[in-house]
Amino acid sequence: MNKLYYGDNFDILRNHIEDNSVDLIYIDPPFNSKRNYNIIYDGASAQAEVFKDTWSLRSWQDEKRLIFFDEAQRYSGIHNIIDALEKLLINSNPSLFGYLVNMAIRIVELHRVLKDTGSFYLHCDPVASHYLKLILDEVFGIRNFRNEIVWCYTSPGHSKRDFQRKHDSIFRYTKSDRYIFNQQYIAYKSGIHVKEEGEVLAYKGTIKESQKQEYEARGKPLEDWWVDIYPTDRVRKERLGYPTQKPEALLERIINAGSNEGDVVLDAFCGCGTTVAVAQRLKRKWVGIDITFLSIDLIRQRLLDEFYRNTLGLNEIEAKVKFDEDVTIFGIPRDLEGAKQLAVQTKSDRVRKEFEKWAIFSVGGVYFEKKGADTGIDGYFYIQDVDQNRKLKKLKCLIQVKSGKVGVRDIRDFSYTLDREGSPIGIFITLENPTKPMLDEIGKMPQYTTQLGKTLQRIYIVTIQDIIDDDLPNLPIQRITKRAQRAKMENNQNTMF
Ligand SMILES: C[S@@+](CC[C@H](N)C(=O)[O-])C[C@H]1O[C@@H](n2cnc3c(N)ncnc32)[C@H](O)[C@@H]1O
Repeated sequence: MNKLYYGDNFDILRNHIEDNSVDLIYIDPPFNSKRNYNIIYDGASAQAEVFKDTWSLRSWQDEKRLIFFDEAQRYSGIHNIIDALEKLLINSNPSLFGYLVNMAIRIVELHRVLKDTGSFYLHCDPVASHYLKLILDEVFGIRNFRNEIVWCYTSPGHSKRDFQRKHDSIFRYTKSDRYIFNQQYIAYKSGIHVKEEGEVLAYKGTIKESQKQEYEARGKPLEDWWVDIYPTDRVRKERLGYPTQKPEALLERIINAGSNEGDVVLDAFCGCGTTVAVAQRLKRKWVGIDITFLSIDLIRQRLLDEFYRNTLGLNEIEAKVKFDEDVTIFGIPRDLEGAKQLAVQTKSDRVRKEFEKWAIFSVGGVYFEKKGADTGIDGYFYIQDVDQNRKLKKLKCLIQVKSGKVGVRDIRDFSYTLDREGSPIGIFITLENPTKPMLDEIGKMPQYTTQLGKTLQRIYIVTIQDIIDDDLPNLPIQRITKRAQRAKMENNQNTMF
């Protein structure tokens, strides 16, 4: 059974993933930048936050206590490196130190879950790579360092004062010297190994005729520099609109090299699920973890579309049934109790916010990040209509989420907010069941009839139980998460500061 976990990978690894149980790990963690990553939907001005740097929100003091006191034994392998990094960075760059402490404890857990024959790939930016390599050397042992793969690509660049930064580093470590490695090959006469006029660059004058023939027939064993894989924004059909999405060809190569059919592949920062989608296609079992609900939702949709419908040729209902048989999703509320825990029993603002996001995405909306005073808007969605000239137009509608007691006043307030924002209809999501006066109040409100002749209530009440039962009002909503096509990062230079 494949597993998709929604939550912080540190907790998931510690509580759910057994020692020596995984054959291949690939991770592509966020960097310690101050920027937010945004996703832009379908060219609309609407933006939903995908993820912020979770690291800067955490206090590394707690982690340090864990490493040196509470669980000193478990984390003894990183005591020296954390001490050294603290001396080096605590004054000059404490936030980088916090990032590295957070990465170090996760790397210890990832090493623990890896089988003795397993391999670990860490994808990073040249700005962070040298710090992370120190930690990896400590945890895996220098003798288990296998490669630094340099993935080069080109894309439009802006810097006038530097060479364009167009490569990433991927460190490859193994847990022992009994590791799985399937040699990968590259076409020998590809443009990268020959000069324009056909002269062989790398092997000129030294290669034996017999070897040349072998290379030409089978390809040449791949070097640790990869220049033949396009970044995702150049592979149109793969683009899902998730910032930092990696190309499938890259993961295909890593998974083929480091595992065999039936092996278990884990990605603890799985984003929009490139690793799990490729693992599924290559007949590996997989485990994916991500801390945002959007990511889990996108992965589910990606697998349904790419694998269950396109590859297996199932229809929509069959695809969902087969998906549910094959994949277990953990951490997304499956019942009211789970939703309540997420909504009210937690002390964490982040978790409470995730509850709101989960509820909003579940009804087809987009979370609205509040800045400043409460505007009464938690999310929004678009419905489709036509104008007088029968041209399609989108109408912005609002969503409000309540996890406490609700009453008729909330409905009146929400109606006022709809008026203020010029929205024709709204969805009111509530954990508690609505009262009769609330329903009566909605009954008295004017309805909205679209140009296409569909009559809509002013306000639709959706309870959390309705979301869990998938019993949602039939509205002409443009489901934005499925249609996310274009991604834009606020800053496309992968810098850490
Ligand atoms: C750079 S993206 C990964 C992109 C991915 N390789 C892909 O192809 O889509 C990093 C991901 O790590 C997730 N993340 C950040 N902190 C996390 C944590 N503590 N636990 C689990 N996931 C986390 C973010 O939500 C984000 O989706």
